[in-house]
Amino acid sequence: MKHYTSINDIDNIDDWIKEAKELKANPLKYRDLGKDKTLGLLFFNSSLRTRLSTQKAALNLGMNPIVMNVSGDAWGLEFEDGTVMNGNMAEHIREAAAVVSQYCDIIAVRAFPTLTDKEKDESEQVMNAFMKYASVPIVNMESATGHPLQGFTDALTISEYKKVSKPKVVLSWAPHIKALPHAVANSFTQAMQKMDVEFVIANPEGYDLNPEITGDTPVYHNQKEAFEDADFVYTKNWSSYEHYGKVVNTDPDWMITKEKIGNAKFMHCLPVRRNVVVKDAVLDSDSSIVIEQANNRTYAAQLVLKKILENG
Ligand code: CP
Repeated sequence: MKHYTSINDIDNIDDWIKEAKELKANPLKYRDLGKDKTLGLLFFNSSLRTRLSTQKAALNLGMNPIVMNVSGDAWGLEFEDGTVMNGNMAEHIREAAAVVSQYCDIIAVRAFPTLTDKEKDESEQVMNAFMKYASVPIVNMESATGHPLQGFTDALTISEYKKVSKPKVVLSWAPHIKALPHAVANSFTQAMQKMDVEFVIANPEGYDLNPEITGDTPVYHNQKEAFEDADFVYTKNWSSYEHYGKVVNTDPDWMITKEKIGNAKFMHCLPVRRNVVVKDAVLDSDSSIVIEQANNRTYAAQLVLKKILENG
């Protein structure tokens, strides 16, 4: 595998899950694979889990991770071609990506969407520019439309916790005070579509995800109906796709409660706003597997880096 920028880069998700479980059981088995190799982690946006788990994954493989907060510490980056750069942007992505490639064997990038310009977000301008102008492999640590490290983590976690061969998995929208990206919901949807699960999505009217991603996945606008017999309830807020980037509903009736999820396991990518998205009683109960889910971020990232390193 050259780059990892989408769930579509996973050729066989069952094989990947099996391999990730083996890494989790023996995380230091390949500690010589990344010897003298450098992973550059470039953050245009905040992070706790991705930043730490991806570094941990690199260290487990013997790599040297180096981290930069691009938005705060680097020169302002210009992504448009042919621009007269007499404004705030001091460096073009053409030079920046090429230069970072001199220092790093793999570059991982986090760059959120604008949520104001759908066309620009869907063009994945930042991720595609790094793929175009860097001379080393690129890993997506959450881009405008996808969070494939999270999506694969979630697939691994469901595989670990499932009690029946084909569990029912519900992705449920929940309220939030801010407009949030679609990336986690998109990648989770794509991961579930690759797995042997009964997968449905629940969201209010006006919050349907990009139909090119949801495809044939059933979408309910009635949360109670969607939650019937669920084994896993994966919760995430996202802003409207139809009314792009807008918050058109904050109905607290969509918040996740113990009563709603019954015997299902509760999942969330984190960070999560308590008593806005989900009640304390859920997060503080045995139903919640969010910490185990976050732990799996390391092994998902480790498998991705291992595959890229093995590709040479
Ligand atoms: N789930 C996730 O990506 O967490 P961070 O934003 O903290 O990295």
